[in-house]
Amino acid sequence: MKGIIFTEFLEIVEEGFGLDVCQQMLELAEDEGIYTAVGSYDHRALVKLIITLSKITKIPAEQLQEVYGEAVFLRLLKTLPAMDPPLHDTFSFIRSVENHIHTEVKKLYPDATPPQFDFLSQTTTSMVMDYKSARCMSHVCLGLIKGCARHFSQKIQVSMEPMNKSQSHVRFNLNLIAE
Ligand code: HEM
Repeated sequence: MKGIIFTEFLEIVEEGFGLDVCQQMLELAEDEGIYTAVGSYDHRALVKLIITLSKITKIPAEQLQEVYGEAVFLRLLKTLPAMDPPLHDTFSFIRSVENHIHTEVKKLYPDATPPQFDFLSQTTTSMVMDYKSARCMSHVCLGLIKGCARHFSQKIQVSMEPMNKSQSHVRFNLNLIAE
């Protein structure tokens, strides 16, 4: 997994929970915390950090994944050049993540494996999409979608339906409530 996912995670933990908790998390997880944005690291190290943070804060790991996803959205967006033409809504943006952004990530870093999205149906107010990833980080995905909706000032209700036990395949139902 790309280092930027780790460096942003450590910054978000430090900002949200403080330096002490961040250091305690690294110590308990036996992680030296040395990540560079362009490096590549085993995604299980991130899972371990989240589980450790969950033990320290007593906040469920899935909730921490979601909060992280929501916080990291804007940070990832800022790493991109301006879109041309610019996108103005969550559904178009998510499609561009699958069709352009994650595709570029894979071209730039052949070792990166972002998730795959399959779009099942879409209207002006609803979208059904499947998240597929061996990394099983659907709650990070939920947070990213929420961060994206907030960025576009849209109120979107999101429900998730696991399609298998490991949750490597999860169906997302998105409903636009208000703009
Ligand atoms: C709605 C917006 C987005 C969604 C739902 C989304 C979803 C995800 C998820 C869930 C992951 C974690 C890995 C996994 O589950 O397999 C991921 C990884 C990643 N995403 Fe996105 N993403 C979004 C936007 C972006 C943007 C704007 C960028 C900007 C460059 C980006 C770049 C990346 C990168 C670099 C990784 C790590 C891939 C790897 O190293 O294997 N994503 N994305």
